[in-house]
Amino acid sequence: RRGPVVIPVVVHVVAGRDHPEQNIDDEQVHSQITVLNQDFRAANPDVSKVPDVWRDLVADTQIEFRLATRDPNGEPTDGIVRVVTDRPGFDHRDGVKSSRTGGADPWPSDRYLNMWVCQLAGSLLGYATFPGQPPHLDGVVIGHSFFGTTGTAAAPGNPFNRGRTTTHEIGHWLNLFHIWGDDDGACSSDDKVADTPNQADANTGMPTFPHVTCANGPNGDMFMNYMDYTDDAGMFMFTQGQLARMNACLEGARASFLA
Ligand code: ARG
Ligand code: ZN
Ligand code: CA
Repeated sequence: RRGPVVIPVVVHVVAGRDHPEQNIDDEQVHSQITVLNQDFRAANPDVSKVPDVWRDLVADTQIEFRLATRDPNGEPTDGIVRVVTDRPGFDHRDGVKSSRTGGADPWPSDRYLNMWVCQLAGSLLGYATFPGQPPHLDGVVIGHSFFGTTGTAAAPGNPFNRGRTTTHEIGHWLNLFHIWGDDDGACSSDDKVADTPNQADANTGMPTFPHVTCANGPNGDMFMNYMDYTDDAGMFMFTQGQLARMNACLEGARASFLA
């Protein structure tokens, strides 16, 4: 591939009728796009915090994100769709992805990355589809207060205020697994990426280096990877091995974005 690939994005802002704060402003949407273009290009200011032992693994993915400038009918758009809903909130069951259930219908998933931003129930920050799931469900869903860096994401004390939930979910959308392999501490399954250390379980909060599990010393878990579960301020890298998986996805299941 020559030069960066640009993924057109549509952001569906689905807001409760009596909840104007859920109707996040354009600035907050733009702040998320800025974060994505930093994180996926290893241009994030905090990439300098990567421990020396892993500096050579840091990947500039050459993947960029732009709000769509044409809608599916070819008409000009700002790439932001706003829908008012009577639903108090949504969850992992995908109601936000259809107008029939109080959400917003997707744009064609072979040409746009659909992002839905809404009130999410409980402690869910966001979720994503992996490649190969049904087209009408394809995309990422993010709680409005974890989307971007301004507006409702800038609430005092919010540890998910740097837009990294969306970075993480797009990692899944490009076929990345959690860095600990989702095996509940067993060390028996990993993320199918060779250059990330085998790690027992998710890390949360702001761990200190090194954190050794699964006999992965002396360097331990790569908890500063976007595919772990730390606070937003604690995650700041993808690896070359993860990039290889993302590129395989872009050359396979999501090849329509390379055209
Ligand atoms: N799917 C994960 C959750 O909802 C997202 C975790 C994102 N982590 C973060 N620091 N933003 O729990
Ligand atoms: Zn995840
Ligand atoms: Ca690994």
